[in-house]
Amino acid sequence: MRASQILALAAALPTTLAAYKGFNYGATGRDQAAFEGEFNAAKNLAGSSYTSARLYTMIQDGTTNTPISAIPAAISTKTSLLLGLWASAGDAQFANEIAALKAAVAQYGSAFTDLIAGISVGSEDIYRITPIGVSNNAGLGVGPETIINYIGQVRAVVGDKPIGHVDTYNVWTNSSQNALIAAVDWIGVDAYPYYETTKDNTIENANATFWDDYDVTVAASQGKPVWITETGWPVSGAASGKAVASVDNAKTYYDDVACHAFANNINTWWYILQDTGASPSFGLVGAGTPPPTTPLYSLAC
Ligand SMILES: *[C@@H]1O[C@H](CO)[C@@H](O)[C@H](O)[C@H]1NC(C)=O
Ligand SMILES: *[C@@H]1O[C@H](CO)[C@@H](O)[C@H](O)[C@H]1NC(C)=O
Repeated sequence: MRASQILALAAALPTTLAAYKGFNYGATGRDQAAFEGEFNAAKNLAGSSYTSARLYTMIQDGTTNTPISAIPAAISTKTSLLLGLWASAGDAQFANEIAALKAAVAQYGSAFTDLIAGISVGSEDIYRITPIGVSNNAGLGVGPETIINYIGQVRAVVGDKPIGHVDTYNVWTNSSQNALIAAVDWIGVDAYPYYETTKDNTIENANATFWDDYDVTVAASQGKPVWITETGWPVSGAASGKAVASVDNAKTYYDDVACHAFANNINTWWYILQDTGASPSFGLVGAGTPPPTTPLYSLAC
């Protein structure tokens, strides 16, 4: 293509591409129909359409390394995917994650790979080995050297896709992560003012706290894009410091944080569409299979 043609093409494109807007999805107990029910509910949610899905594993529940059924469900519902490979269960289990990723590429081809918004190698792995993660009994984690090694393995399979890592904002501001930040294409930040009990975490302060967390992550990011991979406020459950879980407060948090993220074209995967039985519960909709499409509070921005 000649330079003049490229310039003409560039001029025809919108100046900003629409950001990804999605939810986080678990894997336990879900088959393709269950994922399709969730993805369709997210798309058809009254007041706000969510068309992207963040996953934590490539592996279908109950199998060794069969690709997760969320992939055919995403293809049939035209849902983009922020894939995840679980990175805290040892090298042998990470090899199963890689095997499932390779098998999915071989089985579904470009119908699958065209839907990939990004790939996260791990989720909060480093948080779990920090003093605060250990004191919260957060579970097994790994350090940045392991994540960097795994990123190399994922690049060898899908080198043309944006590869990143998701962790908590206070992990990203720790200078021990500089080599990891250099190794990724994007940074995923998880931040929940509700849980930040060392701060004055009333709902009145929550918007400022979240954007402070985001801004310090951007400052540490070496210029890499910072995506919001998890945040939300619970509709029910116990208080956490000064944070009160309620539908009213969840709506305030959504109006302030989600609407500001969308208005600023920041890729966002909210926590969470449905959270039946959990306490605290962060779900935007109540119980039901497939999930209802009427949210517990208005999602209009
Ligand atoms: C900083 O990150 C390293 C891992 O790279 C971790 O071992 C250490 O505990 C972290 N420090 C704090 C204060 O979280
Ligand atoms: C939330 O914080 C952002 C970023 O600082 C700010 O631009 C916005 O006005 C705040 N929203 C409210 C409702 O205060």
